[in-house]
Amino acid sequence: MLFSKTTAATTITTLLAAGCAARASAARPRPTSTFSTSVISSTASATSSATSEVVSVAQWATIGVTQYPNLFDPNAVNANEVCSGYSLSGLQTTETGLFGRLSLLKACNVYGYDFDELTLFVEYQSSDRLNVQIQPVDLTDVYVLPDSLVTKPGVETLTLVDSDLVFTYTISPFSFTIIRKSTGEILFSTAGNPLVYENQFIQFNTSLPKGHFITGLGESIHGIQQEPGANKTLYANDAGDPIDGNIYGVHPVYVDQRYDTNTSHGVYVRNSHAQEVLVRDESLTWRLLGGTLDMYFFTGPTVKEVITQYVSTIGLPNLIPYWSLGYHQCRWGYHTSDMLGEVVENFRKFDIPLETIWTDIDYMDSYKDFTTDPHRYPLDKFQALLDTLHANHQHYIPIVDAAIYHPSPLNKSDIYPVFDDGLAADAFLKNPDGSLYIGAVWPGYTVYPDWLAPGTQDWWSKAMVDWHKNVPFDGIWLDMNEVSSFCVGSCGSQNYTQNPVHPPFNVGGPATSFPLGFNITNSTDIPYYNSIWYTYTHTPEPSTTATTTSTSTTVSTNPMNTKAPGKGNINYPPYAINHQQGNHDLAGHAVSPNATHADGTVEYDVHNLWGYGITNATYHALLEVFPDKRPFIVSRSSFPGSGKWTSHWGGDNSADWAYMYFSISQALSFGVFGIPMFGVDVCGFNGNTDMELCNRWMQLGAFFPFYRNHNYLGAIDQEPYVWASVAEATRTVMAIRYEILPYYYTLMYEASKTGFPALRALSWEFPDDKSLASVETQFLVGEAILVTPVLAPLVDYVKGVFPGVPDEVWYDYYTHEPVRAGPGENVTLAAPLGHINVHIRGGYVIPTQKPAYTTTESRKNEWGLTVALDKAGSAKGTLYVDDGESLVVKESLVVDFVATHGSLYTFPRGTYTVCQPLGSITVLGVESKPSVVALGETKISNFTYINNTLSVQNLESLTNAGAWSAPLVFSWE
Ligand code: NOJ
Repeated sequence: MLFSKTTAATTITTLLAAGCAARASAARPRPTSTFSTSVISSTASATSSATSEVVSVAQWATIGVTQYPNLFDPNAVNANEVCSGYSLSGLQTTETGLFGRLSLLKACNVYGYDFDELTLFVEYQSSDRLNVQIQPVDLTDVYVLPDSLVTKPGVETLTLVDSDLVFTYTISPFSFTIIRKSTGEILFSTAGNPLVYENQFIQFNTSLPKGHFITGLGESIHGIQQEPGANKTLYANDAGDPIDGNIYGVHPVYVDQRYDTNTSHGVYVRNSHAQEVLVRDESLTWRLLGGTLDMYFFTGPTVKEVITQYVSTIGLPNLIPYWSLGYHQCRWGYHTSDMLGEVVENFRKFDIPLETIWTDIDYMDSYKDFTTDPHRYPLDKFQALLDTLHANHQHYIPIVDAAIYHPSPLNKSDIYPVFDDGLAADAFLKNPDGSLYIGAVWPGYTVYPDWLAPGTQDWWSKAMVDWHKNVPFDGIWLDMNEVSSFCVGSCGSQNYTQNPVHPPFNVGGPATSFPLGFNITNSTDIPYYNSIWYTYTHTPEPSTTATTTSTSTTVSTNPMNTKAPGKGNINYPPYAINHQQGNHDLAGHAVSPNATHADGTVEYDVHNLWGYGITNATYHALLEVFPDKRPFIVSRSSFPGSGKWTSHWGGDNSADWAYMYFSISQALSFGVFGIPMFGVDVCGFNGNTDMELCNRWMQLGAFFPFYRNHNYLGAIDQEPYVWASVAEATRTVMAIRYEILPYYYTLMYEASKTGFPALRALSWEFPDDKSLASVETQFLVGEAILVTPVLAPLVDYVKGVFPGVPDEVWYDYYTHEPVRAGPGENVTLAAPLGHINVHIRGGYVIPTQKPAYTTTESRKNEWGLTVALDKAGSAKGTLYVDDGESLVVKESLVVDFVATHGSLYTFPRGTYTVCQPLGSITVLGVESKPSVVALGETKISNFTYINNTLSVQNLESLTNAGAWSAPLVFSWE
């Protein structure tokens, strides 16, 4: 049986190579171990037994109690109809705002028990931020999110009079309204709806103007706008990117862009509980399952200002190391270190830049964190590979999973010091009775670090430092940190002696889907794939014994969502959110809400912060591994403020066009959320990709800050060299990416200083043009580069708008031709496969460096400048340079560029020395052929003038001391 799978997989490779004419000839062969067979053998190896019988976590233990989401329940009580709200009394003004007492008018106890008395605090914290806080007078059993965990913004300046925001209120029933003083607009108003404040349910509403434009509210796979009808469930979830469902991170913030007044403002609700936000035609309803109401209003008035105000409040993103802007290759299924080495070599062979190679859980010994499989990744071989990588200025990033394997005490050889050390440090989550909380993830029954326990950080740091001595990684990939568990409740409490158990599903079964259009482009292959899947789907699973003993968590379809006093019914709160798009209890693919932290905090209160906790701890651990260097982390789960420590990838998308389409909105929303270093699994994770999709996606991904191709275990290979056309398209686009790295790094630096991300929606840069509001098929890199990708199969053109025309001029990146477009015109652009439309905006100077194979080598190459003149013949730009890795930057260089009236001036300042000379200058939009071109006093006769583009090369000898060692003047007339 196992044989048939191996055979099938091998045949897939053979046929793929033969079947796709466009495919590169040296496609990497698959190793002999494949798909689920390798999983099974690795699981077996942990027990040192060759048995083919695998013990699994029982299926039933994964299901939990069916929850009918309140959102869809026609009989659900509408709190706005039955609750009466509160009345305000004892109002007093303070130096920074006011406070008062809210008293319950009449109990409604709709999804919990009402609090009788609340305190209202209003604080004008700075000229652009207003805080409204409402919390119970009696805080017993109420979780108040501490500042030490999630930054709680405070008063910065006494600006009561300066603020453009005004807080007004009604007494009874209490409501409040935020008005923009300068325009008189109502930005937010709870008038007309009662405030509902119960132990497990807080609800408030705001009215919204008809035709509103709301963005934010994540994490979710959705278009850029949260249009009327959108229901956002905010509860960190290990779910493979369901469209509109709750996924890995939680970002309770929105931006409200108003085109009638040309102003924008932002609203952030600082709360770590499960939440639901309902966007409707003229209203927005927010529901919180606990905690306190702690709201922040940001004045803007531009979107750009809203984003910078919000992101500076939650914590500015860290400055990424320069190398992380290089290309990353990953897959689940690099089964051996040999195979990994082969991939690295293949990239070189096909001359496709590879900066960082990643390993998924394949490298681990039976999926245990901080281990390597002795057979598949023997340390000596693996270390040799990493040494070679490092010698070639390349990098390595391994996955680290959230859960820690619990060894079986019945098996003397089941030794796992990382667990023992964690136990000794008292670093794991507990059950309410004080026993270890034991869930299940890849390695079997697992425990979970408790980031609120005092000993956890040191234990985690030590594990990282020790492991790095053996496996010299350069960054860390944090996965499964929502935090996920494959079973409901502490299912391992009575079963962990059976470890290592297999997950309760077939790990990495064959991917059976192909992208839209595959049946047309690859019609001759279809019968073959069908036969392969027939073999797979008719091959029985290995015999498994499911032995999980039932614990207190039982399977039921009866609603258990009853009210309870005090902290309430934390496993089954009376208000059922639409977790995992319906019918799932809160412990579905998650540690149960009653898991308990060292300080008594229950997971119910802080579930959304688990990923935030591991990210913080890993950041600090990496500071010990690499003192003084910037840690590089990519985390799946995130929360407001995560950007201080981590980057993020979009999780388990699918190899389909829709996911490529949504990736743009995902990236833009993570810019709002303060995590600008974002990318998705290029070519798609779940399902099989195909040549056309991968071609387009490799080109689109090259313009995202984080550029990584990653793939599912059971899917066909998708490294860019697998298809000749994809290899070619990738080389083309990577030449652009690596050429503009200095521009990109400057943008990432600016993001770390201001909070405004590198990737921008057209509507952020052109906020006055309403027609751009919902553009989600194009984006800007900084202010100067417009990307218009193809997002659909079987087409060789794409439509795009050119914002700001006729005042703005846009030049084709490749031909330097100015675009002819009218205002709002959807221009049809040629886009044959292998070509991505990129345009440069007139008025900008883009600093470049000659691309090389790695970022380190690129940094050693000569500089260039692309000067795109606007209609007035002017341009400006900035370059930021430092060593690309120091945590505390001691020496840096900023160069300002100004072009006007036929001259380009460079103004360098700073102490960081750049030795590389300036090699070339290209000026776009020069109206007539110049007769004299000069750099300083030196005349340059050897220039070209084609297509209104002036180009000079080989300038190196004139800037021998380094391109930016002194101011320069380049002139043409
Ligand atoms: C889930 C992650 O999202 C995915 O990227 C990874 O490949 C698998 N876990 C296996 O580790």
